[in-house]
Amino acid sequence: MGGPVHRYALRLVFPLLLIVLGAACRHRAMPAEIPKPKLDQVARGEILYNAHCTNCHDLEKGIGPRLTKDVLATHVSALALFNYTRRSMPYATESSLAAQEYWDMTAYLLSLHGFIKRDVVLGPETAEGISLVE
Ligand code: HEC
Repeated sequence: MGGPVHRYALRLVFPLLLIVLGAACRHRAMPAEIPKPKLDQVARGEILYNAHCTNCHDLEKGIGPRLTKDVLATHVSALALFNYTRRSMPYATESSLAAQEYWDMTAYLLSLHGFIKRDVVLGPETAEGISLVE
């Protein structure tokens, strides 16, 4: 039953109500935003290194040399290693990453081989003073 106005109201209000309720439920069902853990420089560098470098440097048939402690030490300082890496790597697509990414990867390699402590932040202010020669 019900007059035309009543029916009109139902047809309009009911779907609207459903939309509003649906939105409210969906909102409530969404998990609280999970804050991303803040990665330190070495952790960022490791991710970048694995993505851009290991295919040549750490695989059995990689075309690049193994980046051992002795090999890294031939670059004399952290700054020299950074400069070389930025200018020459990844081989054939050199300088294709951001400067900060090269700092992060250099920090990862140096930390991995015990040249720097993990909490040292590597960058233009600190790199020159970090010698790789014993
Ligand atoms: C496509 C293969 C390839 C990729 C990818 C690559 N490299 Fe290399 N890398 C080489 C080759 C080949 C050499 C030797 C170059 C030479 O002797 O001129 C080398 C040399 C190096 C050296 C110097 C080693 C030494 O003997 O002193 C470092 C350091 C280095 N790479 C770091 C990196 C880093 C960091 C990345 C990632 C951003 C990277 N490479 C990505 C192939 C690669």
